[in-house]
Amino acid sequence: MSLKNKVAFITGGAIGFGYAFAEALGREGASVVIAEINIEGANSAVARLQDLGISAIALPCDVSDEEAVDTAIAKTIAEYGGIDILINNAGLHLTKYNLPFTTLTRSEVRALFDVNVMGIVNCSVSAFESMKSRGGGNIINISSMAGNMASSPYGVSKMAVRGLTIAFAKEFADAAIRVNAIAPGLMATDSAMADLPAAMVTSIINDMQFIHRQGEVADIVNMMMFLISDKASFITGETFKVSGGAALSS
Ligand SMILES: NC(=O)c1ccc[n+]([C@@H]2O[C@H](COP(=O)([O-])OP(=O)(O)OC[C@H]3O[C@@H](n4cnc5c(N)ncnc54)[C@H](O)[C@@H]3O)[C@@H](O)[C@H]2O)c1
Repeated sequence: MSLKNKVAFITGGAIGFGYAFAEALGREGASVVIAEINIEGANSAVARLQDLGISAIALPCDVSDEEAVDTAIAKTIAEYGGIDILINNAGLHLTKYNLPFTTLTRSEVRALFDVNVMGIVNCSVSAFESMKSRGGGNIINISSMAGNMASSPYGVSKMAVRGLTIAFAKEFADAAIRVNAIAPGLMATDSAMADLPAAMVTSIINDMQFIHRQGEVADIVNMMMFLISDKASFITGETFKVSGGAALSS
């Protein structure tokens, strides 16, 4: 797939899925923007991408901060002329946020919803006019299998991502913008592997997944690349589980 002359804005792209999305899109010719709260990490990611011959810039951006998002989108338009692909990937997750409502402080719950839910609203609304003016494009939201059960604050935030995906798909359809989400199971990003107890990882693979291998970052990248391609031109508003069956076992 050629993405020459396309511009991708990726939130939380310094590491993990976000970096892998940037590299995959860049290898197909897209210019990529790493919009990050961790600007040092974003700068290192951009250096790695540029070493691969990919056109990339890093922009400081806390997705929960409406003004910071508007500024990053405006800088993207100034630098690259517009946006065709928006990947709403940045999220608060892992052990710290997979706790009950009565364990987290109310401000931690608010931070979770500000980033995981309002972050998607901020970026989608802010990118809309540019995407529309370029004849449409694709938005990919990163949900989670935890949004299936929604039995934790994190799960509720990721169930909301599914709702946002439907709402924005409807609202943006006439601008030829397709909006879809991916709900990963447990995938081997560095942060997930460093954070989660090994026994939990083994139990998810052996007891919950139907396919008993570690989910890899590439599994999520492959779904993202399909969803932004013309092969998915009749698909919008959907959330696709990529979890080796884990999301179906409880
Ligand atoms: N790794 C998994 O197994 C898994 C499973 C299901 C869903 N997810 C979801 O996938 C997404 C990425 O996961 P990952 O494992 O690559 O994460 P990660 O923790 O490795 O990376 C997240 C990146 O987002 C950035 N970020 C955090 N808050 C931000 C903010 N407010 N504004 C901008 N950037 C911010 C961080 O600096 C970091 O670079 C998250 O939304 C997560 O909930 C991950």
